[in-house]
Amino acid sequence: MLNVQEQVSLKPYNTLALPSLAEYFCRVNSDEGLSEALAWAGNHRYPVTLLGGGSNVVLAGNLSGLVVQMAIPGVELISEKHHLRRIRVGAGENWHQLVVHALNQGWFGLENLSLIPGLVGAAPVQNIGAYGVELSERFHSLEAVHLNTGERHVMSRSDCKFAYRDSFFKGQGRDQFAITAITLELSSKPDLHIEYPALQQAIDALPEAELTPKRVSDIVCDIRRGKLPDPDVIPNAGSFFKNPIVSSEVAAKLKHHYPKLVSYSLDENRVKLAAGWLIDQAGWKGFERDGVGVYNQQSLVLINMGGSCDALMSLVVDIQSSVMSKFGITLDIEPRVYR
Ligand code: FAD
Ligand code: EPU
Repeated sequence: MLNVQEQVSLKPYNTLALPSLAEYFCRVNSDEGLSEALAWAGNHRYPVTLLGGGSNVVLAGNLSGLVVQMAIPGVELISEKHHLRRIRVGAGENWHQLVVHALNQGWFGLENLSLIPGLVGAAPVQNIGAYGVELSERFHSLEAVHLNTGERHVMSRSDCKFAYRDSFFKGQGRDQFAITAITLELSSKPDLHIEYPALQQAIDALPEAELTPKRVSDIVCDIRRGKLPDPDVIPNAGSFFKNPIVSSEVAAKLKHHYPKLVSYSLDENRVKLAAGWLIDQAGWKGFERDGVGVYNQQSLVLINMGGSCDALMSLVVDIQSSVMSKFGITLDIEPRVYR
């Protein structure tokens, strides 16, 4: 039964805790509930904005129309073949709880993606990634509903056009589809990925211990707790900027001037730079102004201590221009900004 509320504060629904009001708001727990909500908005000609856990959005003002929180539950093992475990998960499941559940069931492959906030339905939107693994590597397909036509679609990995912090849903498909479920391909046989420098260092520092997927998950959680602020304590949206990808020539010139530049070679022609290092070197770490600031353990994370969206976006512009003038590098914003 559709329960649409009016003038709902979205402060508890975004991890930056920015003040914002939804003109109309509802939660949907099923495919039928979603159809009802879309029909209601269609009849009133209201725009629809989808929300998961609100951990990758910047709410710059009030949202007109209907805000739908995607809460469709369910985790189901749909096939087992040799080591392969294919699971279908509802968009409303909590991502980290899914990772823990999968580990407990002996379905491996998500351990590096432990402790990423938010819900499953948003994971394909920016192709979540951490500690050397991206969602796209564990992804089989997803189910989505077109917001205007109500048509149901099944999309494969190639349909989703995954790239670093990017997908079809940030490009051509932006604001067009509600993802209702995703299907992942996991394995009953551990295949550990521990090449990411911070993970490798933490593992090297351990006494001879048997490495298991659960252990990797625990280590990833420890590393994350050490450098990322808990949004319940210090509101934030994780990395505020993407790590810029530049040509090998640009990276080589920068490295010449800044030998300590942190960079990762992607292929022969492209290098990814650590935006946190660039922001840190530009002198922003720990900076605070008008109730917003740059986290003192990780410069890529902007924090809100009671400031406004305007204060945050003004800080963003200043950081972008100082990194541009010092390094000649453009920093693109990672979370979705709703203005
Ligand atoms: P929301 O913020 O609610 O939504 C994000 C976007 O997705 C919005 O545009 C929304 O409209 C859209 N959307 C949400 N649900 C759906 C749906 N069902 N169908 C269609 N569109 C939808 N990200 C990483 O990749 N790696 C990290 O390591 C990482 N660490 C983080 C650490 C912290 C402390 C925080 C606060 C964030 C971090 N993030 C990270 C970012 C964030 O957790 C992820 O992007 C996450 O997938 C967002 O999920 P959400 O449910 O909160 O999405
Ligand atoms: N660094 C600094 N100073 C800083 C921050 C970082 O010098 O203030 C250096 C670190 O020392 C390290 C390098 O930059 O050498 C990379 O730092 P880190 O390992 O913390 O990772 P990151 O590149 O800053 C990315 C993701 C995170 C993800 C981690 C782990 C992006 C935009 N961010 O951060 O994702 O958890 O790697 O894989 O790609 C997110 O997307 O919200 C997010 C948190």
